[in-house]
Amino acid sequence: MVGIFGCVLKDGKAAPVIYEALKRLEHRGYDSVGTATIHEGVVHFGKDQGRIDDVYARYALDALPGRIGLGHLRWATHGAPIQSNAHPHLDCNGKVAVAQNGIIENYAEIRKELEDAGHVFKSKTDTEVVPHLLEAKLKKGLRFEDALRETLKRLEGSFSLAVMSVEDPGRLFFAQKENTLTIGVDDDAMYCSSDIPTFLPMTNRIVPVESGEAAILEAEQFEIRKFADWSVVSRKPKEVDWVPEIAEKEGYPHFMLKEIHAQPYTLRSTIRLQEEYLDLMTTFLDRAKELFLVACGTSYHACLAASYMFSKMASLSTHPVYASEFIEQIGKSVNIDSTILALSQSGETADTLAAVDYARVHAATILGLTNVVGSTLTRVSRAYIVQQAGPEIGVAATKTFTAQLSVLAQLALKLAEKRGKLSHVEMEHFKEKLKQIPQIAERVIKTEESIVHSIAKKYKDKPYFIFLGRGISSAVAYEGRLKLMETNYIPSMASPAAEMEPGVINLMKPGSPVFFICPRDETRRNIIEDIKKAKAEGASIISVIEEGDEEIKALSDDYIQVVKDMPEYLCPIELVIPLQLFAYYTAVERGLDPDKPRHLTKAVTVK
Ligand code: AGP
Repeated sequence: MVGIFGCVLKDGKAAPVIYEALKRLEHRGYDSVGTATIHEGVVHFGKDQGRIDDVYARYALDALPGRIGLGHLRWATHGAPIQSNAHPHLDCNGKVAVAQNGIIENYAEIRKELEDAGHVFKSKTDTEVVPHLLEAKLKKGLRFEDALRETLKRLEGSFSLAVMSVEDPGRLFFAQKENTLTIGVDDDAMYCSSDIPTFLPMTNRIVPVESGEAAILEAEQFEIRKFADWSVVSRKPKEVDWVPEIAEKEGYPHFMLKEIHAQPYTLRSTIRLQEEYLDLMTTFLDRAKELFLVACGTSYHACLAASYMFSKMASLSTHPVYASEFIEQIGKSVNIDSTILALSQSGETADTLAAVDYARVHAATILGLTNVVGSTLTRVSRAYIVQQAGPEIGVAATKTFTAQLSVLAQLALKLAEKRGKLSHVEMEHFKEKLKQIPQIAERVIKTEESIVHSIAKKYKDKPYFIFLGRGISSAVAYEGRLKLMETNYIPSMASPAAEMEPGVINLMKPGSPVFFICPRDETRRNIIEDIKKAKAEGASIISVIEEGDEEIKALSDDYIQVVKDMPEYLCPIELVIPLQLFAYYTAVERGLDPDKPRHLTKAVTVK
């Protein structure tokens, strides 16, 4: 994951163009770089872990010959960030080169089949199955285009691919499924990339490639075809007037908004975690004599939500602990029987690593959940899962939070299955609902964004906010409060709703905005009583409810609706999205930059 780019030039060398394109994505973060070109029947390439400039210099990549080529920046998802795992990947004969963004879900089964047939793999990536599959099809005598068509039929997952071969040396092939790709059309060159900014200085004429489509590029023309029947799609270029900064944000004014909108896509990646990772992790969880969920900030709120998921789904009791308090609070009791599940988006937060380090020294088992392969957390964990959310640039965690929730929900479900806590019918129901979560996130954003924006306009000048929820929704309340405080600097409180007396209720005055998070779960009757109490104080009630909850609507001054009938363990994912949007739009309405909250950095790596 991170970015792919390819170009076919009428004249000149592709490698320096690829260099410039990759440099435009550099600030996002990546671990490895690779470039390949074709010239006189040979694939030339270089790749390695490290910075673009270093890898280009080390392998003299600028000098690669050829007017056709592809480049890749990697953010590891399968396999460590080492040279063999960097893209492009080649077939056994070095005739096909492939770079990929995303996940090929069924790679393990394809790899086994190809290895049994004698193919030799050099990496641990899912991507490498693609060149070998193409090689196998070519061996059967297919033309390269047909081999690609056949190969695409085999691939499951969410991916975008850049492919080239000496068997079809004048053309560059791309394909995407549930991912992103855009063609850039120039007078004497064609580009295609996961990211428009890569080619924006050369051309502003773009053609989107939709899910389930392949693009075939030559220097002066392109063709788009559907995987399903290889029929041609006619699509004309359109001009965008984005300056590079806006293009980087894909037209969104801020990264925070772009990342909120990316959630349907990141959730699609996250719910495709390989069974083997879930299996290994839940084996440790199942055996844990005592389990501490340790993290900071947003990641801690994911721990809090997880404690409800594990307990309710799998009858596993856990202890969520702030990493900064872990040594003081738990330190003396940590021993060989303790298991620590540490959550950290960055995998580098100093307090989380200090807690982990302490626990390791005291013989505890360390498990990790992070967004960054190769981060310190992955190195010190006995087993870890990478949440597959891609790099997050906004300081306020949004897409990485819902990705964490989705991984934790999958762990809870898997553990419940292992422990025999759910019937077959319940399991199937929960699995089906999990599959729907990306569309549900999409729907919530689509239907509620403008409503949340109006609510933000209405309340933006209020001096303080209160967020209340019960059960698992109290974790959502805490996260809503953190988002608002870190992007808006407005004093805010959050607590389980039952705890509002004494204390919080005394702060409710006529017009005080109070958010109530109200899914239709077992807590609903009680939360209705909580709302009535807040209303009696004159508070303005802003509720986040399931569609059609007329009773709570009638009690609310404003309400935001999420999709109904989601199981409790998945609810936080859809419930938190309106609160992320609220923090975002409140900041915008107050003239603040939500991407750059003052005094904050993305990862707190010093204590
Ligand atoms: C969240 O919006 C914050 N940026 C912050 O609280 C963050 O969650 C915390 O610093 C932990 O970071 P980590 O997940 O990278 O460890």
